Amino acid sequence: MCGIVGYIGKADAPTVLLNGLRRLEYRGYDSAGIAVLDDDRIVISRAAGKVAVLSDRVRAEWPAERFARVTTGVAHTRWATHGPPTEVNAHPHLDRSGDIALVHNGIIENYRSLRSRLESNGHRFHSETDTEVLAHLIGECDRGDFFQAVCDALHQVVGTFGIAVLSAREPEKIITARRGSPIVIGIGAGETIIASDAAAILAHTQRVIYLDDDDIAIVTAEGVEIRDLHNIPVTREITELGYDAAAAEKGGHEHFMLKEIHEQPDALANAIRGRLDFNLGSAVLAGMGTSARELADLQRVVLLGCGTSMHAGLVGEYAFEDLADIHAEVQQAAEFRYRNPILGSRDLVIAISQSGETADTLAAVREANQKGAFVMSLCNVVGSTIARETGRGVYLHAGPEISVASTKAFTCQVAVLLMMALKLGRGRRFSREEGIRFAREIEQLPALVGKVLRQNARIAEIAWEYAFNEHAFFIGRGPMYPVALEGALKLKEISYIHAEGYHAAELKHGPIALLQQGTPVIAIACDVPGKDKTLGNIEECCARGAKVLGLVTERDHETAERMHDFITIPRCHPLVATIPAVVALQLFSYHVARLRGCEIDQPRNLAKSVTVE
Ligand code: AGP
Repeated sequence: MCGIVGYIGKADAPTVLLNGLRRLEYRGYDSAGIAVLDDDRIVISRAAGKVAVLSDRVRAEWPAERFARVTTGVAHTRWATHGPPTEVNAHPHLDRSGDIALVHNGIIENYRSLRSRLESNGHRFHSETDTEVLAHLIGECDRGDFFQAVCDALHQVVGTFGIAVLSAREPEKIITARRGSPIVIGIGAGETIIASDAAAILAHTQRVIYLDDDDIAIVTAEGVEIRDLHNIPVTREITELGYDAAAAEKGGHEHFMLKEIHEQPDALANAIRGRLDFNLGSAVLAGMGTSARELADLQRVVLLGCGTSMHAGLVGEYAFEDLADIHAEVQQAAEFRYRNPILGSRDLVIAISQSGETADTLAAVREANQKGAFVMSLCNVVGSTIARETGRGVYLHAGPEISVASTKAFTCQVAVLLMMALKLGRGRRFSREEGIRFAREIEQLPALVGKVLRQNARIAEIAWEYAFNEHAFFIGRGPMYPVALEGALKLKEISYIHAEGYHAAELKHGPIALLQQGTPVIAIACDVPGKDKTLGNIEECCARGAKVLGLVTERDHETAERMHDFITIPRCHPLVATIPAVVALQLFSYHVARLRGCEIDQPRNLAKSVTVE
């Protein structure tokens, strides 16, 4: 998820564009760039790092009068997906002639085949990005009609895009288009502004148009003309926004955490996109860098991580054993190098880290490399240290996670681990039919999570019942045990309630002593192996006066009636159900913390990335 801005209108376009980027920095902040039309030629500046770095460079390198006279430009703040966050990979990207400048938010899935075709026509590429390929493709299609050239190029693209394109040969317009990534156009007086999000527009106008998929628009200072990719005019309504920029950055949500919880259907769709093979009944995870031979030869999977990432690894442990018949174990990353881990070349070590910068996980990666294991990473931040040190792995594509409490990264980590287990399983025990069935289950994830998100208001009501207890217990069995651990961690870190997660069978071995009248117990009683046993444990808790909130599979009325309160989880494969189940607990924790007036996005004593041991 990146942030793009385009502006055409009055003077000082560079300042408008840089301010717009600042407003979109929550969408991506690892590199940025700007291109303007000055004297009918394209002038470009890019920088690795935050928007402030780019702004300092532009103000230092560009003559002041350029700010005064330039009225048209595009800009971009990046969340790297293809190629690390460097200056050369930053946007805008130019075509071969240097007369076309493009900024892009999204993923071009067929960029490799397009690139090799263009290279055989003599094109030379400077960056590792999918976007530069599109810039060259537009140039290749340009037969003197810029708009038609963009249409022709987009017809050849597979994947998602939100773009804004400039041409020095037709300086009076900017072309913008979308498929899968958001584009909003702000209609001002004598100026028009394009952006990924209204946050970058609100300083100029409240009147906006949201483009639909496969819409393409010609934007001038006077206004906008919208067509579809077949050049057929389409009409889109103008919306009056009526809210301020800060609210817009959170997409109208009160906190980034709630926004990121609600982003999970899209984040999961991005994490899954292009990675399920319904023909082979397997998964395509090119970055793993393993041959079928190497996969078949593996004897063990070791999952490393800290905090929420370790909990995702625990779900992965169940998945690898269940789907791929391979021994799997989770190791607490901080302890890994202080013990003597027995590792060899037939051991697959997966380092899980949202930020890719967690010091304990990085140290464990180095230990595993030293021991000659087959090491790879599962990160969200492209170009992060762990991703670079492992040199192979899978990116989540969950987009930037701003709130300290990790939510969408967890669900995307589990989704990718399920796809990895499916891939290993297909080479070891899964038939093609079984593989296709499980791939279909994974494909349902955005819709399954949507069902839980629609219970948000009800979960907010339920939270009142539990918000003012200082202790809480989460219990679950099988793959729902790590979900109980993650639920407890979420509640702990944002509400400061002393919450503990336990395997449901573990209560009788001590923790049950802490239960008394009204003690909250959050029990994950969905249809997974061992559910009947969990119901027995719930009886034991109720017998000690506990107040039980249950996660129950939809239409399981009999189980729901046994709870003080319940949240329904859609019916699906037990391993897949871990994801909608944890979303229910994320919402529960959020509403409890909100009722307690906690600082949800920046909880006390915590940091988004723990870069010290
Ligand atoms: C989760 O909400 C916390 N922010 C924390 O436990 C986090 O998961 C842990 O620090 C690991 O971070 P990473 O995924 O960036 O490595």
